[in-house]
Amino acid sequence: MNNATFRGLIWNLVVGISQVRFYSIGHESVVVAAERVLSLLGEFPDGLCTIMAVKGDLVVNNALFREAGIHGQKLVRLLDAKGISRVDFLPGAGAGEIRSFFADMAATKDPPGRYAHIRLGRIELGTATPDADAAVVDAAFHAEQLARVQEAYGQVSPFRELPVVGLEEVVSTFLLTFRRGANLLQMLSPVKSHSEHTYTHAINVSILSMALAESLCLKDETVQAIGIAALLHDVGKLLIPKEILHKPGKLSDEEFATIKQHPLYGAAYLARVEGLTRLAVLVALEHHRKFDTSGYPVLRDSGRRQHAASQIVTITDFYDALRSHRPYRRSLSTGEVLGIMQKESGSAFNPGLLQRFTVLMVQAAAAE
Ligand SMILES: [Fe+2]
Ligand SMILES: [Fe+2]
Repeated sequence: MNNATFRGLIWNLVVGISQVRFYSIGHESVVVAAERVLSLLGEFPDGLCTIMAVKGDLVVNNALFREAGIHGQKLVRLLDAKGISRVDFLPGAGAGEIRSFFADMAATKDPPGRYAHIRLGRIELGTATPDADAAVVDAAFHAEQLARVQEAYGQVSPFRELPVVGLEEVVSTFLLTFRRGANLLQMLSPVKSHSEHTYTHAINVSILSMALAESLCLKDETVQAIGIAALLHDVGKLLIPKEILHKPGKLSDEEFATIKQHPLYGAAYLARVEGLTRLAVLVALEHHRKFDTSGYPVLRDSGRRQHAASQIVTITDFYDALRSHRPYRRSLSTGEVLGIMQKESGSAFNPGLLQRFTVLMVQAAAAE
């Protein structure tokens, strides 16, 4: 029994749970991860293995195990999200059981099922004492992020360079802040004046998209790239005449058609920005397309589904648009918005991603 076995076990558990979010339970990648978990469990004395998540650390068979690195942290977060403090793998566990465990951990149904050879110990959600090191999200935090995004967006013009490094810093701050335990809903920018809505909306869609991406156990670079893409998803709106964009009354058909050009304008603009992830171009182009391939703009390959990152932003964009106060209606509560979105699960939104997002938001609302 050595650290390589522990590491391998943790890695394959995280991989299995991640794969089953995207593929069926019978997919080769899920089957392989389950087989590897099973074979590594066979190396434990008597086939017994206990994994515990204790204050952010992993304890494997009663020994603190800090060498699992990012996969260890991901496993801790996955267990935390399900309110699980301890997993006991007992002798006799089969590959089918392990795959069901992956699926239950990946699914948003809560709590996970029961298994003959896997025991789960639970912690009561909401009883944890506040972390003294938790990030502080206050008016100063909101003002600083708003100023940074406003400054970067101020550079958007066909004739100037977009400060990509500044945007990367903004996104890193978001990621660090919610990793340090900040409440997702409190991190969202408060509703501001109409003129600031462009920036607060970009900030909120970025924060929510990163939180959703993070909950899928995606790689850090991918989470960051999704954060940047989300921050820039509506950049094409800055290239639309202000008289149309900020028109207080009802838009004419022609004006509405102009606004609907913003995904194309945004993608064309971002494609020319050096040092920017290609994901940003794709998300700007696809964020008003829908999961069922309807929506706009109509593309040559319109039968193709949106990229997974665009599917994430379609969800978070819609959520933030509805929860923010607009002149013509009051803002809606998280529950009301999620209820409306649920009706479009499978048509506008990827059902699995929407389920996951719903759990995130319900948890954040309960903890607020
Ligand atoms: Fe948009
Ligand atoms: Fe948007």
